[in-house]
Amino acid sequence: MCGIAGYIGDREAQDILLKSLSRLEYRGYDSAGLATIKGRSIQLVKKQGKLKILSADLKSDPIEGAIGIGHTRWATHGIPSDINAHPHLDCKGKLALVHNGIIENYLELKEKLQKEGHKFTSQTDTEVIAHLIEKFYSGDIVEAVRKALKKLRGSYAMAVIHKDEPAKLVGARCDSPLIVGVGQGENFLASDVPAVLDHTKDVIYLNNREIAVLTKDHVLVKDFEGRKINRKVSKINWDISQAEKAGYRHFMLKEIFEQSGVLNNILNERYKKGSISFEELKISDDEFKKFKRIAIVACGTAYHAGLTGKYILEDLVKIPCWVDVSSEFRYRNPLVDKETLMIVISQSGETADTLAALREAKRHGAKVLAICNVLGSSIARESYGVIYTHAGPEIAVASTKAYTAQLAVLYLLTLYLARLKKTVAASKLNALFKELKRVPALMEELLAEYKPDYNILAAYAQGFRKYYHEKHNKTFFLYLARNINYPNALEGALKLKEISYISAEGYPAGEMKHGPIALIDENPWVVCIAVKSRTYDKMVSNIQEIKARNGIVIAIATEGDKEILHHNINYLIEIPKVDELFSPPLVAVPLQLLAYYVAREFGYDIDQPRNLAKSVTVE
Ligand code: M6R
Repeated sequence: MCGIAGYIGDREAQDILLKSLSRLEYRGYDSAGLATIKGRSIQLVKKQGKLKILSADLKSDPIEGAIGIGHTRWATHGIPSDINAHPHLDCKGKLALVHNGIIENYLELKEKLQKEGHKFTSQTDTEVIAHLIEKFYSGDIVEAVRKALKKLRGSYAMAVIHKDEPAKLVGARCDSPLIVGVGQGENFLASDVPAVLDHTKDVIYLNNREIAVLTKDHVLVKDFEGRKINRKVSKINWDISQAEKAGYRHFMLKEIFEQSGVLNNILNERYKKGSISFEELKISDDEFKKFKRIAIVACGTAYHAGLTGKYILEDLVKIPCWVDVSSEFRYRNPLVDKETLMIVISQSGETADTLAALREAKRHGAKVLAICNVLGSSIARESYGVIYTHAGPEIAVASTKAYTAQLAVLYLLTLYLARLKKTVAASKLNALFKELKRVPALMEELLAEYKPDYNILAAYAQGFRKYYHEKHNKTFFLYLARNINYPNALEGALKLKEISYISAEGYPAGEMKHGPIALIDENPWVVCIAVKSRTYDKMVSNIQEIKARNGIVIAIATEGDKEILHHNINYLIEIPKVDELFSPPLVAVPLQLLAYYVAREFGYDIDQPRNLAKSVTVE
């Protein structure tokens, strides 16, 4: 949450920082600001609202300077406002600072600093850091930052400039991400790689409790004790074009359409000549054989992928497996130990709750395997082993391609373990591999149906909007499924609510009769995932129960299923024929697109939905 950018070099910082912030806006977008040093003074502009408001302001009244910091905010302490926007200054306006994270002891620090005469202007926790650095400053900004850090409790990444040392840009991190972009005669700080990719592919991933001191020609990394650290420069192997919209109206749409390619890559890279390889796995076959249980922990969409993992792992590897949301796991006394394989799933690799859960599991002696998209992220680095999903940058706040990529990795891991533990006969395993390999092509086929901008799902969404208004906004969505597609019901509901703000609930269809069926009248639109499976007949009964109570049914069924048409459904969505085990990634596609088109019908900001941020680095 919140995006940080910093620049030092010979070029004007303003436009470089604005561009970097535009690549970080997915991290927060309720206000934005920049500070530069020109001559011996700090120039500062900050505005409530999206980055475009700040950009327009700076266009008419630019700020100068070849060193600067920038920020795009997701509010934690203090409402979104010009005053609470970053950068924040000290009392005398000598230093400027941007911060991502939460300072847990800020109230206590603020009180003390106020007693010492410091004047605060904002309601943020961040401002205490600026005043602390001011307090410790005696001609050496790096030392002052280091001393200030010792007083802070919480999570943070920050960037600082001081007008008396205009050739130094200082960054520091503890539990929130920060990278250094290493350029030629210029250097960069950023919360994430896309922010620097226009200028360099060489980056240093800072570790926790590290400080980076950037001049235009040099990068020095120190730990919080002030000791110099040698950090290696990593080469980014993807292009900035992957973080652009490529002609699509929204990142979300682009990312939905990338899914067949992503799945194809995952399966081709990991499954060659009949064997599966995970190069960063680290856990040996012997270790795998000794695990007595699997615990999966994740948040949001990644949690839904984890739930699907439980179905397939228990089914094929015959190992007990439970799944928890990270924020619940971390505050109970979880029964994990060295006989537990703990799998943490995270697109960003920076989700604070998942990171905390990972550390908790490690404390209990569990081996942690991460399924992660972002290379070098905190979760990837702190886990014992990691399987990267290599889905490319996911920019839209609503996660799509990361989800199906996580599913693909879970399928491969399951088949790998089933072979290792001999829990599935070789002939059946081969058939399963073969079927899994068909999924990317089937998905490509499915996506092709939705290529035209006006397609059947866009039409359903249009129908929904009309109905919604006719029913005076009383309409809402229910998503029902059974067995392996139940997590998809949760995921479909999450996608819809996060981008269209319409109430939506996912439910195991068999639970309807235990309460939720009371909601059914002519108001709700009920998405029933009724693909051919061992629970098909049960799903059909659920559809009848809904129709008997006048509910509107959208059925997701298998192509060629004639029977479903006899149940008086209102709308039909078809997915290609596939073994039910592998239906979840295919079912996910129309669910994502339906949410997308509904949000588009209502004219919402699809890539940047209200109150959300892509990477949730605060608790
Ligand atoms: O980066 P992570 O996968 O750890 O993020 C987890 C959730 O915050 C994330 O999936 C969130 O629920 C998405 N906005 C859902 O679309």
